[in-house]
Amino acid sequence: MRILLIGSGGREHAMAWKISRSPLCEKLFIAPGNAGTALCGENVDMQPNDKEAVGGFVRSNSVNMVVVGPEEPLVKGLADYFAADEHLRRVMFVGPSSEGARLEGSKAFAKAFMERNQIPTAAYRAFNRDQATEAREFLGRFSPPYVLKADGLAAGKGVVICTTRAEAEQNLDEMLREGKFGEASSTVVIEEFLDGKEISVFVLTDGETYQVLPAAKDYKRVGEHDTGANTGGMGAVSPVPFADDEVMKRIEERIIQPTIGGIRKEGIDYHGFIFFGLMLVDGNPYVIEYNVRLGDPEAEVIIPRLESDLVELMKAACNGKLKDCAPVISPRYALAVMLTSGGYPDAYQKGYVIEGTEEVDGSQLFYAGVQQDVDQLVTSGGRVIAVTSLADDLEGARSISYTNARVVDFKGKYYRRDIGKDLLK
Ligand code: AMP
Ligand code: GLY
Repeated sequence: MRILLIGSGGREHAMAWKISRSPLCEKLFIAPGNAGTALCGENVDMQPNDKEAVGGFVRSNSVNMVVVGPEEPLVKGLADYFAADEHLRRVMFVGPSSEGARLEGSKAFAKAFMERNQIPTAAYRAFNRDQATEAREFLGRFSPPYVLKADGLAAGKGVVICTTRAEAEQNLDEMLREGKFGEASSTVVIEEFLDGKEISVFVLTDGETYQVLPAAKDYKRVGEHDTGANTGGMGAVSPVPFADDEVMKRIEERIIQPTIGGIRKEGIDYHGFIFFGLMLVDGNPYVIEYNVRLGDPEAEVIIPRLESDLVELMKAACNGKLKDCAPVISPRYALAVMLTSGGYPDAYQKGYVIEGTEEVDGSQLFYAGVQQDVDQLVTSGGRVIAVTSLADDLEGARSISYTNARVVDFKGKYYRRDIGKDLLK
């Protein structure tokens, strides 16, 4: 099979690493890819949002399967573009239609979907620009902290949590009236604050049925002990010790099954991954958000635990045959530490030489912001490298990842030293 993977982060390096090991994969292209994906296949200089370019490449290179890593091309209708073309519709496409992608692309749509399908989530209301006064009043229904969410995609920055009413009102004005997140905040969701433990749960679905993939815990804040700014993710652990069989059963019954049921009932075309961002409140799961893709850095810990052939699973998802394809998951622990550029998630420098990657022993490096510059590797993003290790226990995985996090070096390197620490017995 000839496969095109779209994206350029650590998640895509992990996906490319796994796909390239499949006996079903004859040739792998990654667009645009990075220095890590280049080790697994051929990078193609093409913008993921350029539908005509992607379609043209698939046609002229006889690609049989397209796998989309990030959400943006899906929200912008790449799957619909393929479905509308006589030739391209025969290509297996991993990723939902734009309607399915609204589960991530519009928080108001996702909340209404959950309401229609009785899926537990925080109480909420959505407000548009003409309803700014009502929105301010609605804040009075809650006690602090207040949760405000820009409706649309805002590069992971669209959620604002405010500790006082005054701060919430000011942010609300900035979002609705002043376009703080551009068009994305022309509608704002105000919702109840849920106090609990967060977990990322993943499934692969063919729109009818699903298979559960390993769950993970992501460390979103830049600082140790979960302090400081929100980032794309500073590290991840899988499995998650507090998500035992009982909790996972509740998640399946109360969240996953009604979500897949809703997709089926509402006739949404969905072949691909669903990422459930959940809050466990006293062991009861609530949906914080849906994403229509794998997480980053969650992919860097769940993919190494997947013993089954990912290409075979994705093929089954495209062909509606997922029911008979239960994935085999390793019981081992995976832990990823994200090495970042100093300053991230605010301003940071790029172009620093990365050293020591060849001395890494026992970990898998997944490159995020890494570029090849003639004969050396240089930093090219805020999140630079995920250092993933597998071991029989969490302590072991932590120790190997941290040893190698010290071995890899570049100017300004920063990483959290407490990934997985809270989960140790
Ligand atoms: P998101 O950008 O949607 O991933 O949200 C960022 C973070 O905000 C989440 O990871 C949660 O930690 C937090 N968050 C979002 N919604 C809520 C909520 N209703 N209650 C508590 N925390 C929330
Ligand atoms: N790590 C969170 C995300 O991928 O959205």
